[in-house]
Amino acid sequence: MTTQNSLTQPEHDCLICPRLADFRDQNRVKFPDKFNGPVPSFGDINSELLIVGLAPGLKGANFSGRPFTGDFAGELLYGTLIKYGFANGEFKARADDGLELVNCRITNAVRCVPPENKPTGPEINACQPFLKSQIEHMPNLRIILSLGLVSHNAVLKAHGEKLSAYKFGHEAIHQLGSGVTLIDSYHCSKYNTSTKRLTEEMFHDVFETISNRLAS
Ligand code: URA
Repeated sequence: MTTQNSLTQPEHDCLICPRLADFRDQNRVKFPDKFNGPVPSFGDINSELLIVGLAPGLKGANFSGRPFTGDFAGELLYGTLIKYGFANGEFKARADDGLELVNCRITNAVRCVPPENKPTGPEINACQPFLKSQIEHMPNLRIILSLGLVSHNAVLKAHGEKLSAYKFGHEAIHQLGSGVTLIDSYHCSKYNTSTKRLTEEMFHDVFETISNRLAS
């Protein structure tokens, strides 16, 4: 664990979760020229919006080293961020595409790629201090967008809130004790979009709400 201006970040060789560290070792052998480490947050720490995903995809964020970059879910997420003015430039699914986030930061509830895309409960809990530290170090934070239930629960735990007091729901808006507003969305995953649980229009509506709230 390192601290940079007291922001707690996992080491590139973090060993806190043995299963994830083993998986990383295997991936470093199979894909030696890829990032293969805990994926750092992307975007300015002074932003008003924090987007919290689940965990890096194997050949997406785990390869590129930038959240949602190279993952299917990133196509809808970054396209929407550009549409709503939360990103400038062209998204080319690579960490060096020059895309810049505007008033927005992106992180994951779990920083390392989990096998089968499924982190365990203890792994989610072990990564909790890093999420908590992100949140605590965003002085202008007003809105957290949770993509999916795992993110929703992780954000509540990071705030020391009772999970039973805030039910996850697409487009649900929760006022947290800290003054931060938590907004939920179904995750923009390939599964959710191909089953139409989440359509592009539904996802855009979430960002319409966020933009309106930040403008007021
Ligand atoms: N890529 C990420 O970085 N996070 C997700 O939740 C999904 C894909």
